[in-house]
Amino acid sequence: MFITFEGIDGSGKSTQARLLAEALRAGGFDVVLTREPGGSPGAEEIRRLVLEGDPDRWSPETEILLFTAARRDHLERTIAPALAAGRIVICDRFADSTRMYQGLSRGDLRGLVDQLHSLMIGREPDLTFLVDIDPAVGLARAKGRQGTEERFEDMGLAMQERMRAGFLALAHEFSARFRLVNGARPTEEVAAEILSLTRAALA
Ligand code: ADP
Ligand code: TYD
Repeated sequence: MFITFEGIDGSGKSTQARLLAEALRAGGFDVVLTREPGGSPGAEEIRRLVLEGDPDRWSPETEILLFTAARRDHLERTIAPALAAGRIVICDRFADSTRMYQGLSRGDLRGLVDQLHSLMIGREPDLTFLVDIDPAVGLARAKGRQGTEERFEDMGLAMQERMRAGFLALAHEFSARFRLVNGARPTEEVAAEILSLTRAALA
């Protein structure tokens, strides 16, 4: 099973992805916990190219190509082999992040994102948790955390509002695999709901 976590910065995705991996491992499952951009040596190199430097370092189109290239490498080297070996893969962000960030934030490029996805990736997760949070809360949480990336950290509240609305629309569009989770609650409460939804999907 291929599980992804999506949502705006500071929603609690990384925390929840880690807690789900720990809970499933404690239950005897073989779990690979990974993230995007990154998750394989080559994709981690591309991560630096897309997350560091000036905001206008890449054109919107080049940025889509870089995220897609990173994802292709991650899929080939990490995700596909793990799934083929019967392991559970939990990934912190995946193609839905490109649909939102590259597809919506600098003009409407969703069509291009989807075309490249079907050409080069062609695989959707089995289950996607959308951790939903008020953007002001997410921004405050993200700022309180060490080592945030340079290029996307100054997106601002208005853009985070657009991303949040976009993710909610995406959850509607792909309703079979999306599970909407309220991330404003205490960490353990969110984790318990995610674990029970995952158990139901595994059964
Ligand atoms: P994301 O991966 O979505 O950007 P993180 O999991 O890194 O979010 O969480 C961002 C910050 O908020 C971290 O400092 C984390 O400890 C904190 N955090 C995560 N979940 C919660 C929660 N439910 N309540 C309060 N703080 C949280
Ligand atoms: P991430 O390390 O997950 O940061 P955070 O924990 O703050 O959510 O992601 C880094 C940034 O990369 C984040 O702002 C979203 C952006 N991103 C894209 O723009 N497109 C993508 O396809 C992915 C996977 C991430």
